[in-house]
Amino acid sequence: MQPEVQHFYHEQSGTLSYVVSDPQTSAAAVVDPVLGFSVVSGRTDSGPADEIIAFIKKNKLTVEWILETHAHADHLSGAQLLKSKLGGKVAIGDGICKVQEYFAPVFNLQPPFAADGHQFDHLFGDSETFTIGNIECRVLSTPGHTSDSVTYLIGKYAFVGDSIFMSDSGTARCDFPGGDAALLYRSIQKLFALPEDTILCMCHDYQPDGRELRYEVTVKEQKQDNIHVGGGTSEDEFVRVRTTRDQSLSLPALILPSIQVNIRAGHLPAAEDNEISYIKIPLDTI
Ligand SMILES: [Fe+2]
Repeated sequence: MQPEVQHFYHEQSGTLSYVVSDPQTSAAAVVDPVLGFSVVSGRTDSGPADEIIAFIKKNKLTVEWILETHAHADHLSGAQLLKSKLGGKVAIGDGICKVQEYFAPVFNLQPPFAADGHQFDHLFGDSETFTIGNIECRVLSTPGHTSDSVTYLIGKYAFVGDSIFMSDSGTARCDFPGGDAALLYRSIQKLFALPEDTILCMCHDYQPDGRELRYEVTVKEQKQDNIHVGGGTSEDEFVRVRTTRDQSLSLPALILPSIQVNIRAGHLPAAEDNEISYIKIPLDTI
C-alpha cells in the first residue's frame, strides 16, 4: 500500500510542504508546514498553513503527525498553527537538542526553555519506525546540512529535507552551526543506497534559470545527474565543491526569526507582559 502525496509550494522561501495520507484509513502526516512571515512588519501570515488545512478538511483526513525534517533557517514552521487546528503530534529528529544547545545562548533563552527537545511531542532516533494509518514509516538520520536533519521513508517516498536538491541544483549548504559537508556526503550515500525507484521529495526548489517547479526525483536520476554528488563524485571532491560554494552564500533573510521559532517547535516566543511576542536580533554574534 502506497501513500497519497500532495505538495504545497511556498514561493517566497521556495519551500515544499507535503500532506502524506493512507488511502485505506484517511490517516495523514504533514511534512514541513510553513508559517508566512514579514521581517519588515513582523506580521505572521497563516496563508500557507490555511491551504493545507483546507486540503485536509476537504479530503476528510485525520492528522496523526506533523513532521519536521530539521530546524529550518529560512522560514518559520507552521507546525503549531496546524496542530491547534487539526491535532497531530509534532516531531523532529533527536539531533534538535544539539541545535537548541547551540542557539539557546545566542538568544539568551532562559528557563522554561531547555535544550532537551521537550517543546516537541516526539523526538525520532535513527532507524525509528512509526505508522501513518496502516503505512509503516522509517526515520533515517541524514545530518550534514544541520545536525538534526532526518529523512522520512514513507512507502516508496523519501522526504529528504535539505540534504539533496533537484539534480540541477545539487545539495544543501553545510555552513550553519552543526553543518558538516563530509557528513552530508555520507548521508546522501544512505539515500543512494535506497532502491533506485525511491522517489525523493524535495524540501526546496529554487527553479534555477526559471525552469518549472520540480519536487520529486528518483534515486536513480540523482545518482546519475546530481551536479554535486552524481556520477560517482568522491567525498573529497564533494567537500571541496560544497565548502567553496558555501563561502559565497549569504545568510537566509529569515534565519534569526526562523531559528527562534523553529527550535521552539513552531511556538512563537512567549508574549511579554504587554501581551506582545518579540523576535530578538543578537548584534555582532552570528
Ligand atoms: Fe534547511
